[in-house]
Amino acid sequence: MQIFNDLPSLRAEIGLLRSHDARIALVPTMGALHAGHLALVEEAKARAHHVIASIFVNPTQFGPNEDLAAYPRTEQADVMQLDAAGVTALWMPDVAQMYPDGFASSIHVAGLSDRLDGAWRPGHFDGVATVVTKLFNQVRPDVACFGEKDFQQLAVIRQLVADLDLPVEIIGVETQRDVDGLALSSRNAYLQPRERSIAAALPETLVTAGEAIRSGEDAAAILSWATQHLMDWGFESVDYFTLCDERTLETMTKLDRPARLLVAARIGGTRLIDNIPIYP
Ligand code: PAJ
Repeated sequence: MQIFNDLPSLRAEIGLLRSHDARIALVPTMGALHAGHLALVEEAKARAHHVIASIFVNPTQFGPNEDLAAYPRTEQADVMQLDAAGVTALWMPDVAQMYPDGFASSIHVAGLSDRLDGAWRPGHFDGVATVVTKLFNQVRPDVACFGEKDFQQLAVIRQLVADLDLPVEIIGVETQRDVDGLALSSRNAYLQPRERSIAAALPETLVTAGEAIRSGEDAAAILSWATQHLMDWGFESVDYFTLCDERTLETMTKLDRPARLLVAARIGGTRLIDNIPIYP
């Protein structure tokens, strides 16, 4: 696996790959890789001749009080995992490369970016949309893989690609989970053992609430039960526990079309998110 830190060398390599008519898949990440990221690489391998992975801890998607400085960095282990997974090239730009002095542009996907996590993390999805657009322009992949774990992010990227006619196919990959159901996340590393065991209540509550809503129980009543249930388990706060249209992420009061149950909750200062599909 070749590692690239500057754009001209990356472009030269990609030009070479393309001259052989190869299909290229991109897997964007912020590093601290786990089996969730590797599932994206596997999906990408199935859809293209070459997989390009990127690692860039994107400062513009972190709020002023968020964990940018503390974000886990495990570069050596990441490189080894991507190499073993069969990635062709790793794109690892630094901040000056991505945002040189004078950088002034930003992409805002109205509506979708403003709800749920967007309301709790103002500017977050602008940072994501802008960096992902840059990565698409740098790598010009035929296909790019994103996890359903960050379901709103996936929705924002799909909208962005459709709106701006970006010539890339977006693939959503199912959430990879630990044995007790907790969605794999780089942020799970922040959890103390006690918090880690409480965290398993998150997927469990999603599943229980999903079954109740599907069986016809009143969605509002179930959502407030689910919120309280998480607090009883030991979560400090629940930012949202909500039923949304799977495409627009607009709030739904009853299950009359394909939906997603989404939650964000905090434990020991760590904010965890998760979601599951729910169909009428
Ligand atoms: P990061 O959190 O590193 O995640 C990179 C990709 O891995 C995302 O598409 C995310 O949804 C996916 N992923 C994370 N955990 C997963 C899991 N348990 N199962 C399946 N997929 C999982 O998301 C980002 O980075 C950034 O916002 C990025 C898109 C790279 C832009 O900076």
